[in-house]
Amino acid sequence: MISNIISKGLKGSPKIPGDKSISHRSVIIPSISNGISEVTNILKSDDVLNTIEAFKSMGVEINEMKNKLIVNGKGLNSLKKPIGEIYLGNSGTSARLLTGLLSSQSFDTVLTGDSSLSSRPMKRISEPLSKMGAKILSNNGTLPLKINGTELSNTTIDINIPSAQIKSGIILAALNTYGITTIIENKNTRDHTETMLNAFGADISIQKQDIKKIIKINGKKNLNSINIEVPNDLSSSAFFIVAALINKNSHLVLRNINVNPTRNGILIALEKMGAKILFSNQREINNEKVCDIEVFSSELNGCELEGDIADLMIDEYPILSVAASFAKTPSVFRGLGELKVKESDRLNLIKLNLQSCGVDCKVLNDDLFIFPKKNYEIINNKIQTNYDHRIAMAFAIMGTRVGPLVINDSNSINTSFPTFVDEFINIGGKID
Ligand code: S3P
Repeated sequence: MISNIISKGLKGSPKIPGDKSISHRSVIIPSISNGISEVTNILKSDDVLNTIEAFKSMGVEINEMKNKLIVNGKGLNSLKKPIGEIYLGNSGTSARLLTGLLSSQSFDTVLTGDSSLSSRPMKRISEPLSKMGAKILSNNGTLPLKINGTELSNTTIDINIPSAQIKSGIILAALNTYGITTIIENKNTRDHTETMLNAFGADISIQKQDIKKIIKINGKKNLNSINIEVPNDLSSSAFFIVAALINKNSHLVLRNINVNPTRNGILIALEKMGAKILFSNQREINNEKVCDIEVFSSELNGCELEGDIADLMIDEYPILSVAASFAKTPSVFRGLGELKVKESDRLNLIKLNLQSCGVDCKVLNDDLFIFPKKNYEIINNKIQTNYDHRIAMAFAIMGTRVGPLVINDSNSINTSFPTFVDEFINIGGKID
């Protein structure tokens, strides 16, 4: 894929796809509830398709229509042993959530993935689960994981890594475990699992003490099915929001965007940088906050962000770094250690690719420093993505100001935003 400079600005209302995190949960939770759930606006990207296939392979009846899914859930213990291994492609969310869910089933499974997923850390989920008695064998802490399903024991688990995937995996294990499992979450991470389980009638209580959360799940209780409308993905929107901000004469309207307060760090950060963003039509869908977002070209300032906001926007640093490259003053983003264990080592790829584009930036410990200039001289126009969808899309947006940039392995964008190129061209972007 080659992304080129835009001269006339970006205008229109691109269709942002359904939220990836909520889409995964909209397959998993209905599959173990009792009854039929109709899921509309589900994201049909590679990651979510892998989750759908996983549940089909475990005997769940899932009917796929154009933009809708009908899931026929038969309860917590209705899943069947799949015939072969479960392949999860690039999807860390599927891997961590399924590890929790499957560790409390009555059959054994093997989880596999692509080369990126196979190098990502899985001890972060298998170790806390082993405190509940889970039997999980890994390849030195990575996939393939062999999960020997067994009856788990309730206990208290303290999570120190800020990760919604770890929290959600443990919650899913606890749903099928007798008694009360207590999870202490010390940092604020996305809460879609808790929110959806509440709506499905799970016996789950949440007590908040500042950013610390104590979650109690009373297991072995049936879940009721409800219909779900998946709101659109703020993380996917962020690429177009920044594209409009950094290109002159731009004005975009993005509709039905999920602005869950455990996910909205990117909006807080961009507003701090002086971005002109308006919110309207604020409402709730299935207990998730949703609104329309209008964004205009803006003169951005740099900003300093501490590590606590990273938990609310961990996926948005690649595109935020692009925005910071066109600000009037330097930026520093602190506490980005978790970026190193995403679909790629994102901290390193952000630095490397910004430097290829002529941006002066450095990483010190886990902090990223960006020193913007008025004009950039490209050093290497080939962007290395290591098959990471968010690096590919962020640098496609970088190309609108410094292009042409050649984005290697850009088909990775099918992981989360298969219509990215079409939508981008529709609003005036130039991508071959
Ligand atoms: C996700 C949680 C985040 C995020 C990922 C999706 C989820 O990971 O990076 O893209 O759906 O729970 P961590 O919570 O592990 O940081």
